[in-house]
Amino acid sequence: MTDLYAVMGNPIGHSKSPQIHTAFAKITDQEMLYSAILVPLDGFDTAVDDFFRRGGKGLNITVPFKENAWRYADQFSARAQRAQAVNTLMKLQDGSILADNTDGVGMVRDIVVNQKVAIEGKRVLILGAGGAVRGVLQPLLEQKPANVTLANRTVSKAEALARDFADLGEIAACGFADVCGEFDLIINGTSASLAGELPPIPASCVTAETVSYDMMYSNETTVFNQWALDQGALKTIDGLGMLVEQAAEAFLLWRDVRPDTEGVMNAIREDCR
Ligand code: ATR
Repeated sequence: MTDLYAVMGNPIGHSKSPQIHTAFAKITDQEMLYSAILVPLDGFDTAVDDFFRRGGKGLNITVPFKENAWRYADQFSARAQRAQAVNTLMKLQDGSILADNTDGVGMVRDIVVNQKVAIEGKRVLILGAGGAVRGVLQPLLEQKPANVTLANRTVSKAEALARDFADLGEIAACGFADVCGEFDLIINGTSASLAGELPPIPASCVTAETVSYDMMYSNETTVFNQWALDQGALKTIDGLGMLVEQAAEAFLLWRDVRPDTEGVMNAIREDCR
C-alpha cells in the first residue's frame, strides 16, 4: 500500500506542502502520497485519529494546530520539547506518535547553508516572542551568535522566552523601542505584517552589513524586508527557503533520506510570481 502523508491546518488551501513533498518524493524515488487536509477548528484530535487509523504515516501541522499537535503526541524530539510546538508527527512501529519541530533547523539551514550567511559570532536581533520564535531559538543559539536580543511588543513574553532558553545562551529581552545597537542579522518572527504593520524598531539597528530575514514570504519583497532595505541593509531573505527546508527535515524524519532542495525552491519561487 502507498504510504500516506498530509498537512493539516485551517485554512489549508494556500499550503505549498503538497507540492513540495510530492516533488521531494519524485526526486528521491519514494512511493508515497501527500495531501492537504482542512481540519475544523474544534476537530484536530478526531482528524488525526482518523488519518492514522487509515494507515497514515506522517503529518505536517500548520496554523492554528501546532500546540494541539504538541498535546496529541506521545513522544517528543528534543527540539520539539524545547519549542513546545510541533510541526511534524510520525507514527512509529509500536503505534505511538512522535512529534518533531523542524522549523528552527529549517530556518538555520536556509540562512547558513543556502544563503551562506554565518550566524556564529554575529549580533542577532529577533523580533517576536510567539510560537514561531520559540520554535527557532534552540537551533539559532546552537550556532553560537556573539549576542542575541529578543524584542517583542509584549515585553514580558520576550523575558519569559529568554528565561526558558537561558541554559543555551544569554538573551537580552526588551520592547521594540528599547532595542539599541547595531545588528548583523535581524529576524522578523512577528505576525505584524499580517496586520500591515512593522515592528517599530529604531532604524539605527540596520547597517550596510545587516542581513534581514523575514519568516514570512510573498511574491514581492515583504514589508519588513523592504523597510530593512530602505534603511540600507546589505541583503534580505524571506521565509520561502525556511518553508522548503523545514519540509526537507520532515521528509528526512519520515523517509530517512534528505531531498535536494534547490530545484524545489526555484519551482516554488516561480509559482509565487
Ligand atoms: P506565531 O505562531 O506566528 O508566532 P503568535 O504565537 O500569536 O503567532 O505570536 C505572534 C507574535 O507576533 C507575537 O510576538 C506578537 O506580539 P505580542 O506577543 O505582543 O502579541 C507579534 N505581533 C503580532 N501582531 C503584531 C503587531 N501588529 N506588531 C508587532 N508585533 C506583533
